[in-house]
Amino acid sequence: EPGATVRDLGEALGVPPTRIIQILMGLGEMKTVTQTLSTEEIELVAEELGRKVEVGTLEEPAPEEVAPEDSPEDLVEKPPVITVMGHVDHGKTSLLDRIRRTNVVSGEAGGITQHIGAYQVEQDGRRITFIDTPGHEAFTEMRARGARVTDIVVLVVAADDGVMPQTEEAIEHARAAGVPIVVAINKIDVPNANPDRVMGELAERGLTPEQWGGETVTVPVSAKTGEGIDDLLENILVVAELEELRANPKAPASGYVIESRLDPGRGPVATLLLNRGTLHRGDVVLAGTAYGRVRAMFDHNGQRIKEAGPGTPVEILGLSGVPEAGTRFEVAENERTARSRAQQAEERLRRQELAQSGPRRTTLEELLG
Ligand code: GTP
Ligand code: MG
Repeated sequence: EPGATVRDLGEALGVPPTRIIQILMGLGEMKTVTQTLSTEEIELVAEELGRKVEVGTLEEPAPEEVAPEDSPEDLVEKPPVITVMGHVDHGKTSLLDRIRRTNVVSGEAGGITQHIGAYQVEQDGRRITFIDTPGHEAFTEMRARGARVTDIVVLVVAADDGVMPQTEEAIEHARAAGVPIVVAINKIDVPNANPDRVMGELAERGLTPEQWGGETVTVPVSAKTGEGIDDLLENILVVAELEELRANPKAPASGYVIESRLDPGRGPVATLLLNRGTLHRGDVVLAGTAYGRVRAMFDHNGQRIKEAGPGTPVEILGLSGVPEAGTRFEVAENERTARSRAQQAEERLRRQELAQSGPRRTTLEELLG
């Protein structure tokens, strides 16, 4: 219920309050045991713990890739979704480019590769999805909205530079999100590369490489020469297998908006990442305040497709507006339902804006100075 404190929530969920505080910190919120939580915070914490809570007029239930109603026989393996993170200039973009150039799922014959903010590669006949939204900010922003988009973080560390502040930040983000980390020690081709030193620095931060008897998968690579890239992809698949990433393709489609824009000719264009279910052309999609029938759908190569399953990024046309990155989407029964729910979302947004512009409540701590 609103007014619940960190302690109350801990008791309700049967976890220590320190765990709640830790999760909130991961979402950029500092709270003490006796402070009250907003409905949104309660939802986010619950989701983080893989739980559902009923909070007042909770209109949108926490999304789950594997919902309770999924029967085990409907669950199939889904491609792991990877986010690449790391310090400035350590080679994130180069690595993504290299992976894309050498392994992108074919079907580009004569086509121009379209940039849709996410793409799939194939390794040993299995697909891996990369989200091309670099930077911790995008990651944090999405997490703050409760978006659960990444299954594995690939942490890029330059072999000639080692663990730097943003490397540490990335480690913290991944840990807060409970997402496994695969380390790519990049630039092993440069003369002053020192992968051993990097491994030492990683070990100091609790990421002891497997090569040293630890548990962190660490792969030396060069985005420049291509060395180790296959190895990296294979290791990603191994980690994915351990995570048992499964989803129900028969369920109604849901997932998250990765990016969106207003195209002068085509109207609102959104890249969606499916978590669950199968999305078909003609389905009615609801994403926050935007909704509409999927008029056309494209894969990461810009090829028209009719349907897409879990773990797959797609670009869609037909929405009424441009939903923000990180917004959850789902399929609605029909356009009328979608419209009314989009209007509800709009009203909620207005109320929130009003509340934020209103007088701020003074806390007891502030009064006591
Ligand atoms: P930001 O997006 O600015 O954070 O950088 P980034 O991490 O995306 O790095 P980027 O891929 O732009 O690479 C930075 C520089 O390192 C570029 O000049 C790349 O050519 C170079 N570089 C990246 N990977 C390698 C590598 O494996 N070997 C060598 N020698 N140079 C590399
Ligand atoms: Mg870059």
